[in-house]
Amino acid sequence: MAKKTVEDVSVKGKKVLVRVDYNVPITYKQEVTDDKRIVAALPTVEYLLKNEAKVILCSHLGRPKGQKNPAMSLAPVAKRLAELLPDTKVTFVNDCIGEEVEAAANALNDGEILLLENLRFYAEEEKNDEEFAKKLASIAEIFVSDAFGTVHRAHASTAGVAKYLPAVAGFLIGKELSVMGAALENPERPFVAILGGAKVKDKIGVIKNLLSKCDSLIIGGGMAYTFLKAKGYEIGKSLLDADNIELAKELMADAEKRGVKLLLPIDTVVADDFKEDANYKTVDSAEIPADWEGLDIGEKTRELFANEIKSAKTVIWNGPMGVFEFANFAKGTSAVAAACAECEGTTIIGGGDSASAVKKLGFAKQMTHISTGGGASLEFLEGIELPGVAALNDK
Ligand code: 3PG
Repeated sequence: MAKKTVEDVSVKGKKVLVRVDYNVPITYKQEVTDDKRIVAALPTVEYLLKNEAKVILCSHLGRPKGQKNPAMSLAPVAKRLAELLPDTKVTFVNDCIGEEVEAAANALNDGEILLLENLRFYAEEEKNDEEFAKKLASIAEIFVSDAFGTVHRAHASTAGVAKYLPAVAGFLIGKELSVMGAALENPERPFVAILGGAKVKDKIGVIKNLLSKCDSLIIGGGMAYTFLKAKGYEIGKSLLDADNIELAKELMADAEKRGVKLLLPIDTVVADDFKEDANYKTVDSAEIPADWEGLDIGEKTRELFANEIKSAKTVIWNGPMGVFEFANFAKGTSAVAAACAECEGTTIIGGGDSASAVKKLGFAKQMTHISTGGGASLEFLEGIELPGVAALNDK
């Protein structure tokens, strides 16, 4: 069922607690190096400011495991936010619950922002502790969730707090769900799904769900070697998810039964070590030599995958094709990114590694949508209910 959004409630003069995902990279000099997630949630923040709400922002940053850790403070984010919103008063408070926070929230004027300190400095946040959720809720009158990157977590600030306040979705959540939802539910065809990344285990649910929806499924990256092994090929020292060889066979049989075209690498760039400057060569994917490991898809595969992608009307991509952090093994990921950029259909990039790759390789602007959620977009593609969305009020 559709969820209420920030436009369905009156926010004027109200204290609005907004869960954002400001889990952004921070340097040891306390500088934000990538503000994409801060910018992505700005439409909701700006809407609330324009409508004269008192905006209380909260987020986690990193995994401090319930301990206060200055290296994971949100103070640098407050600074960046103030730069992005030069006409708005942005105050930062050194805690996320308690008297000091209450006082700061009560001191807010309409159209001002208060950013709370990292929620995960309290172990109660990740435990979805009721008392913690109540305390967090007590400083506001409305809860807005706009933290798409964290909606797959059932934490106090993503789900728990929604029990105690009217709870609605922000614009980023709305956009992520509608773009990815439309692609999954009603894709323009041909619909090509591309999956990569290291482990089959992490993508089983996604593969199963996508096999029931897509026309072609491209598998590259570390997980492809388990499929090649399942076909009886020699994979040398390449990454193998030995526990899932049988499953890979079942998934291939399922693809055939459903008439889904399954594309696996036909040639592979192999290296004699897992190193940036390792020796490398391209071999047939069926015959990877014993002492070598596959680190990227070969040239013929790049062409095969690119042709499939370019003629698609809908593309969803999650997971790199090789070890793109090493220049010599980034060509496969780069070729797939370039093909997505050339594709005239809808192109959706799941968050996490594929999003970083697309940005690092300079193709970000040519994509229809780059998700701000790594784990969250993966769980959405799996068709799993997201606790941070389920907790919000229905329309
Ligand atoms: C992310 O970066 O994927 C989100 O902020 C969630 O972070 P988490 O995996 O630590 O919960």
